[in-house]
Amino acid sequence: MDNGRLVPDTLCDEIALAIDLGRHGLVVTGCAHPGIDRIVEKASTIIGKRIKYVLGGLHMVGLEESRVREIAEKLMSHGVERVYPGHCTGLEAEYILEKIYGENCRVLRAGLKIEFHS
Ligand SMILES: [Fe+2]
Repeated sequence: MDNGRLVPDTLCDEIALAIDLGRHGLVVTGCAHPGIDRIVEKASTIIGKRIKYVLGGLHMVGLEESRVREIAEKLMSHGVERVYPGHCTGLEAEYILEKIYGENCRVLRAGLKIEFHS
């Protein structure tokens, strides 16, 4: 959407990584242009498990708070318990995600070490 008008999405090379951790999954995104909620839904279908963790650029820069909250609710409905936003998530969206997810949101910064367990 651009100013409330549907426009063609000309980016055709989006890549995301879905990792099967055993009981659940992890999604790693580069830029999440199709929408992180859609990526998580697709990844969950592909690996056949709920996606517990999401890490990467969530492409929310410039979105209204209501839209960020809507996406976060979709992520939660898909079982996403922890988010690690960075890159093109945008500072405002990162702040909103921190308010929603609390300590289950860790903004990606240089030097951050994360361990994922199944
Ligand atoms: Fe992006």
